Amino acid sequence: MININIFENYLKNNLPKAESFHPYFEKALAHMLLSGGKRFRPQLLLSVVDGIYPMFLQNAMPVALALEILHTYSLIHDDLPAMDNSPLRRGTPTIHTVWNDSTAILVGDGLNTLAFEIIAKAPLRDDIKVKLIRNLSESGGINGMVLGQAIDLQFEKTPISLDKLKFLHIHKTGKLIASALKMGAIITDKSNLEEPLWNLGIELGLLFQIQDDILDATSNELEAGKPVNWDGNKNSFVNLLGLHNAKIEADKYAIKIESNLNIFEENLKNSLKNILSQYLKRHNN
Ligand code: IPE
Ligand code: IPE
Ligand code: MG
Ligand code: MG
Ligand code: MG
Repeated sequence: MININIFENYLKNNLPKAESFHPYFEKALAHMLLSGGKRFRPQLLLSVVDGIYPMFLQNAMPVALALEILHTYSLIHDDLPAMDNSPLRRGTPTIHTVWNDSTAILVGDGLNTLAFEIIAKAPLRDDIKVKLIRNLSESGGINGMVLGQAIDLQFEKTPISLDKLKFLHIHKTGKLIASALKMGAIITDKSNLEEPLWNLGIELGLLFQIQDDILDATSNELEAGKPVNWDGNKNSFVNLLGLHNAKIEADKYAIKIESNLNIFEENLKNSLKNILSQYLKRHNN
């Protein structure tokens, strides 16, 4: 099982550097990175590497960091007044409330490009780095997370069909999660595993976003680290199907994902099972 403290230490030792006479920009860049978060995506990436070639873990660390940095940028922008307008994230006040909107926009922009800079500088083969950069930019970009966010906001007050909702979730959340798993296969040069891991990640991403929507309806601010009942009118499984059926749908995905893990050989399967157990054993939450 991945020891996430190793990742946390790596992150703390590799915080964004932007030294200048600006009174707080560098601090703002680190603010949301240091506020915690589940680190789900880096854990997924590192678990794949650990399940294939554990000796590659150290060289995979910058890629895991890049992924978490890109995800963190998406959260910083997601919370902006023009998007979900949220004052709290990871149990801490959001950047635009501590400083101002322009700082949150620029920190997001900065973290987005920094993610690719970090991969470009990683101690990996050049052809592997090009594949990683391609994968992350496609998953996070205009046919990935950014498109999902655009659809989420455009249809905020207009109910959409279940198929369209799945498209929305796959884009805003699924592709980055699928990318986490696939990048583990890219780093270890296991091209035959790229597609099955990607497919697993898309289903996992759907489950993850359904659970996030359930959390929005059922959790509390302390537990979630962000405001709850915040996405009240948005398109979500909870709003479309009702809480009960959203939970049934999440259970279905959990069962499917668990059985899909069986296509992987023992070490990789166990590594993924360990990391996913808390998401797959849903205790009806
Ligand atoms: C929140 O992601 C946004 C979604 C895609 C649901 P996480 O739930 O992974 O947030 P952190 O990283 O733990 O803060
Ligand atoms: C946003 O989904 C996911 C991304 C940042 C891409 P949400 O808007 O549901 O995420 P939370 O609930 O604010 O974390
Ligand atoms: Mg949002
Ligand atoms: Mg939000
Ligand atoms: Mg949410």
